[in-house]
Amino acid sequence: MRLRVVHREDLPQLAHIEESCSSSPWGMGMLGEAMGLEGAWGWGIEEGGRLLGFGLFLKVLDEMQVLTLCVLPEHRRRGCGRRLMEEAEHLARELGMEKLSLEVRQSNLPALTLYGHLGFIRVGCRKAYYKDGEDAVLMDRPLRGGEGGKS
Ligand SMILES: CC(C)(COP(=O)(O)OP(=O)(O)OC[C@H]1O[C@@H](n2cnc3c(N)ncnc32)[C@H](O)[C@@H]1OP(=O)(O)O)[C@@H](O)C(=O)NCCC(=O)NCCS
Repeated sequence: MRLRVVHREDLPQLAHIEESCSSSPWGMGMLGEAMGLEGAWGWGIEEGGRLLGFGLFLKVLDEMQVLTLCVLPEHRRRGCGRRLMEEAEHLARELGMEKLSLEVRQSNLPALTLYGHLGFIRVGCRKAYYKDGEDAVLMDRPLRGGEGGKS
């Protein structure tokens, strides 16, 4: 497995991966728009010439927002999600940013566990944030002032 930057040519693969991960996928159009935003970064994990997962991130002022993180169901628990998040954290540190931030469904135990292990802390909740009425948990990974409980 290797980590690499993702490009517009990867959009069909990214959309396929995202579709397998989300009940309301963005699709190629919105993924492409997100990739084109100023301050956007994207990495994928590739194996045998095929992407297994990817993450899109957006630098907004002093924070790195996690736009999306998706791994094909059959390739989960192999460290792809962690690797992608660690790359984003590495870049954010290099750029001297304050924190990483994200929102996640309150029922999304795999993601909540992953983020918890990476040192993210709950900083709030957005009621009925998702179309189906589910709440979003807001999480931050502070990057200054020590490792902040990373495990
Ligand atoms: C969340 C997601 C990206 C994790 O990707 P992944 O490649 O499976 O994660 P990793 O293999 O790097 O897991 C790292 C750690 O996270 C935790 N974790 C991951 N999946 C878990 C699960 N199903 N249950 C409990 N803990 C889990 C574990 O601590 C794991 O370490 P371990 O395998 O050594 O125990 C993946 O499940 C996914 O694509 N889900 C659907 C999309 C999604 O929910 N994205 C996040 C939106 S905010």
